[in-house]
Amino acid sequence: LNVLFASSEVAPFSKTGGLADVAASLPQALARRGHNVSIVTPLYKHLDPEAMRLSRRLNPLEVPRKSKNQSKLEVTIWESRLDSGVRVFFVDAPDYFDRDGLYGYDDQGFEDNAERFAFFSRAVVELAISSPMAIDVIHCNDWHTGLVPIYGKHYYADELAQTRYVMTIHNLAFQGKFDATQFKATGLPRKYNAESELLDASGDLNYLAGALRYADLITTVSPTYAREIQSAKAGFGLHDVLQARKEDVHGVLNGADYGVWSPDVDRFIEVRYTVETLNGKRQNKAHLQHSLGLPVRPTLPLVGMVSRLTEQKGVDLVVPAIRSLLSELKDERDGFQLVILGDGPDKVLKELQQLEEEFPRRARILGGHDEAMAHRIQASADMLLVPSRFEPCGLTQIYAMRYGTVPVVHATGGLADTVTDLREDPENGTGFVFTEHSADALAGAIERAGSAYRNFRKWRPLMVRDMARDFSWRESAIRYEELFLDTLNAD
Ligand code: ADP
Ligand code: GLC
Repeated sequence: LNVLFASSEVAPFSKTGGLADVAASLPQALARRGHNVSIVTPLYKHLDPEAMRLSRRLNPLEVPRKSKNQSKLEVTIWESRLDSGVRVFFVDAPDYFDRDGLYGYDDQGFEDNAERFAFFSRAVVELAISSPMAIDVIHCNDWHTGLVPIYGKHYYADELAQTRYVMTIHNLAFQGKFDATQFKATGLPRKYNAESELLDASGDLNYLAGALRYADLITTVSPTYAREIQSAKAGFGLHDVLQARKEDVHGVLNGADYGVWSPDVDRFIEVRYTVETLNGKRQNKAHLQHSLGLPVRPTLPLVGMVSRLTEQKGVDLVVPAIRSLLSELKDERDGFQLVILGDGPDKVLKELQQLEEEFPRRARILGGHDEAMAHRIQASADMLLVPSRFEPCGLTQIYAMRYGTVPVVHATGGLADTVTDLREDPENGTGFVFTEHSADALAGAIERAGSAYRNFRKWRPLMVRDMARDFSWRESAIRYEELFLDTLNAD
């Protein structure tokens, strides 16, 4: 199949979260199955020059912008390649993308996001049209590419008659929701400005709602999340739209790229290790404790967390849970140490940093996005917290297992699909799962993990089991392939 994969972020070029990891690893997994896959993404400012080193300039593409006079903007397309050879096309439109930040600053989106991503979506369609081979599937991801199916079907119904549009929801909390007065940013005829087209139930312009109506196939990133989002509770106002398409909604679990996220090959960590050389993990832990100015204590559990700091991630539970567990302790050999790497608004970071002030010999809170540190925490920590309120899939708990870092997670979405509680299944359990979303429940799960850690006869087999769990992309890529073929064969 010829697949064009469209994403607003692609690792290692640009990344705010798991979408970037998936946008690099899923296309490569499909390519390994013999498909011809390329990726298209915006060219942002500050792209890592090393990662961009192979890029070459292609013929410019003329992309119409906005409705009125349909003035065209000539954009340069750069072509680069991932290590496997999969091509990545960069849409170079400095007016829209040459800025600090992908989507905005702090937690404030850019004012012209409706126009920026309408433009990007239009560029994706123009790229498909200019392709020398017919594209079978345009694989869209989240709201940033939400207008692709509509543009394709509206402007190029004949040229792209054979093409199918797939929309993968990575996070329903982000919809590309704008005041309806911004409709003109789409450049589409007025008939699309209606509730059954591009508006949602609250009367807002909603790019994802449009995509969910126009895509031929809808997927999301875990089976549990696929069910959850069809309920009013987790549907963020779009559950009706999803329910109306329930035959076409499928949950396919994300995979991990173990060429990047595995302790035997990880290029960011101090000491590489395998299940046979677990001492390497202890060395990483000692390095990290030392470099963070924490007491170097091999036998004290180190609890890690690597997360965007948003409401979704349940960071509000962390401060009360940790405080309740650490404040009673008299002896430094009891309890645990904590290291959190979190990117998000200053306000949230400051709240977390109170923990460091209260427990200076136990807690470190690091702000910002730091790819190397994310890997080092995975390799050094004994447990990884993922207390998300909701979680479409979640990758950090999947990565953690490969590093022998035992996940402590809330039972929701993809977390529920990937981690089995040790209490429920002592032979096969892989982590600690709590069901009620509260600080007490999180504290209880951390406590259970802490006492399991102190029982080496229990902990070691748990680590070994986690490291042997296989979440590579193979199975999921096969599933995508089947779904693509079904959609192409349906009329
Ligand atoms: P989400 O996409 O909702 O943020 P995922 O668990 O799917 O959650 O993916 C998160 C990805 O982003 C992982 O690769 C994780 O290592 C990375 N990440 C999250 N926060 C940071 C951070 N502050 N610095 C570096 N990497 C981060
Ligand atoms: C989103 C979700 C996360 C998922 C990632 C990749 O950002 O929040 O759960 O793992 O996308 O699909």
